[in-house]
Amino acid sequence: MKRKRVGVLISGRGSNMAALVEAAQDPAYPAEIVCVVSNRPDAAGLKFAQGRNISTHVIDHKSYATREAFDAALNDYLQSQKLDLIACAGFMRVMTSVLLEPWAGKMINIHPSLLPLYKGTHAHERALADGVKVHGCSVHYVTDELDGGPVIARAEVPVLPGDTPETLAARVLVEEHKLYPKALAMAATMEFNPNSSSFRRKPESSKSN
Ligand code: GAR
Repeated sequence: MKRKRVGVLISGRGSNMAALVEAAQDPAYPAEIVCVVSNRPDAAGLKFAQGRNISTHVIDHKSYATREAFDAALNDYLQSQKLDLIACAGFMRVMTSVLLEPWAGKMINIHPSLLPLYKGTHAHERALADGVKVHGCSVHYVTDELDGGPVIARAEVPVLPGDTPETLAARVLVEEHKLYPKALAMAATMEFNPNSSSFRRKPESSKSN
C-alpha cells in the first residue's frame, strides 16, 4: 500500500492535527502526515509537530495584502510538498478559488457541528440557543461553499442540561479526535469527483500504486 501524502493546515492549538499524527503512526494507516502548515507563527500545534519530527511551515497571512496573494503562497508551498490530500484542522481562514480550485476533491475539513446545521462560526453557541438535544462534528470536502461540501462522516454527542458552549465544545472535541482519523482514512482510500458530487471507491488494482 502506498500511503497518501497529507499536509495539515492549522491556525492554533492543533489537537485535531495531533490526533491525525497519532493515527498515522500506525504503518497500516493509509496516510502519512508530511507537513503541518500554520498561518499563525504562534500556533501551539507547531511545537507538537516539531516534537514528532514533522516538517512545519508558517505562512503568515498578515504578510500578504490580499486573500488571493496569501492563498497563492500557500498553494505554492503545498504543491512543492507533492501532497495527495490536505486536511484542515482548525484552519481559520476563508479560502479563495486560488487555493480551492487546485485542491478540489483533495481537501477536507473538520467542523464542530452536525453539518449542514450550524455552518460558520459559533456553532456551539447557536446549537445551545436553539435548544437542540443532539450536537456533534462533521468532516467534509472543502468546496467554495463555506462548510458546505460533501460530508464524509459525522459523530453525535448529547447536549446535557446545564451545558455551556465550553462544556459542549469539550464533549464534541473528544469525538472530533476519533472522527477525523477515521474520515481521513476514508478520504485516503476513496476518490471524490468534484464534478459529479459522487464518490468512487478506487478499484483494487489501483490501490497498490
Ligand atoms: C476544532 O473544534 C475544529 O472543529 C474547529 O476549531 C477547533 C480547532 O481545534 N474548526 C472550526 O471551527 C472550523 N470552522 P484544534 O486546533 O485543537 O484542532
